Amino acid sequence: MIKPHGSDTLNPLYVEDDAKRAALIKEAEGLPSIVISSAAAGNAVMLGSGYFNPLTGFMNKADAMAVAKDMHMANGFFWPTPVLNMVEDASAVKDAKRIALLDPNVEGNPVIAIQDVEAIEEYTDDEMSTMTESIFRTLDMEHPGVNAFNTVGKIGISGPIQVLNYSYFDKEFPETFRTAVQIRDEIGKLGWETVVAFQTRNPMHRAHEGLTKMAMEAVNADGAVIHMLLGKLKKGDIPADVRDAAIRKMVELYFKPNTCLITGYGFDMLYAGPKEAVLHAVFRQNMGCTHLIVGRDHAGVGDYYGGFDAQTIFDDITKDDLLIDIYRGDHTAYSKKLGKVVMMGSVKDHTKDDWVFLSGTKVREMLAAGQDLPPEFARPEVAKILMEYYQSEAAK
Ligand code: ADX
Repeated sequence: MIKPHGSDTLNPLYVEDDAKRAALIKEAEGLPSIVISSAAAGNAVMLGSGYFNPLTGFMNKADAMAVAKDMHMANGFFWPTPVLNMVEDASAVKDAKRIALLDPNVEGNPVIAIQDVEAIEEYTDDEMSTMTESIFRTLDMEHPGVNAFNTVGKIGISGPIQVLNYSYFDKEFPETFRTAVQIRDEIGKLGWETVVAFQTRNPMHRAHEGLTKMAMEAVNADGAVIHMLLGKLKKGDIPADVRDAAIRKMVELYFKPNTCLITGYGFDMLYAGPKEAVLHAVFRQNMGCTHLIVGRDHAGVGDYYGGFDAQTIFDDITKDDLLIDIYRGDHTAYSKKLGKVVMMGSVKDHTKDDWVFLSGTKVREMLAAGQDLPPEFARPEVAKILMEYYQSEAAK
């Protein structure tokens, strides 16, 4: 089985032992505390779940700036994006050595983790811009990820953490939220060796289904892990519960039995295109996958990234840095001429009219207007679930 990133076994930061965890929760009541950002809580969940193996906590400024510069930490270890706990005001935890981090996404702000404070460092505007530009390739505050990154404060609290729960993710998505440890175990039990991961924040349309099947066939995979983001999205994206139902229906009806695990992880979408694709690769390796599918405009938003920038970024990443392989998917769509979903570059003699294309905006407009999606674009059973959601929204 593929090794985790940077270690022989996974070292998740969730405190598994019940008695120890209860004692830490008790201890947290007496510690200086601070409500952290949603992004930092997502980082804590990823660290707790083993996805961000082998990191031990939140990065300090030297590591964050080094990672921003060339995807390596100050000690040379490969990591794609800064993993930060940024706050606006750290006065509540000033001079404290050990602090309680409170979850902004759960009512009552319960403690999510305990942090041993290594440093509290303020980032200059220049440093914030350098990191932003490096992660997102733009400084445009209209970009949802740039906006989120630059509105949570400029004071970084670094140091190791012990994670006490998985925020709302395991409660809201009990059938779908899985840790990297659980997925790795499941892959081991199934005896799968070659495993394709499919990242998604959308319901799976026929292009997604086709891409996953093509990848499985191309690498002769034993199975696929469909791994959906369960955290925060931008306005207009389909909520996780609806997406989850749509994906489950699609897999049940259109994939060979026992070839797919349907799972999810607790993290907010960055919309960082290429850099997010590399982060995606790191945590898919941690959960035991040998391949990550990267298609067109992976983790993109608007026109900020070229269609295949999230693939070319891997050209310079060597096996010394990352073991997982990337399956590069060309633009995939349904060909009316061939009566099936194919990669557009793989066929000749097609004109624009030979393809069934629908933009995200068009799909939303059609569903909001109660118009059925064409079966060449979405499986009818999936389209029905989406239609029900849009109609219930319209009735609100
Ligand atoms: S993402 O933000 O999670 O990447 P999405 O769920 O839409 O968004 O895409 C999941 C994966 O499918 C990504 O690897 C993306 O590049 C790929 N993908 C989506 N649609 C297409 C398409 N029509 N052609 C090729 N790849 C696609």
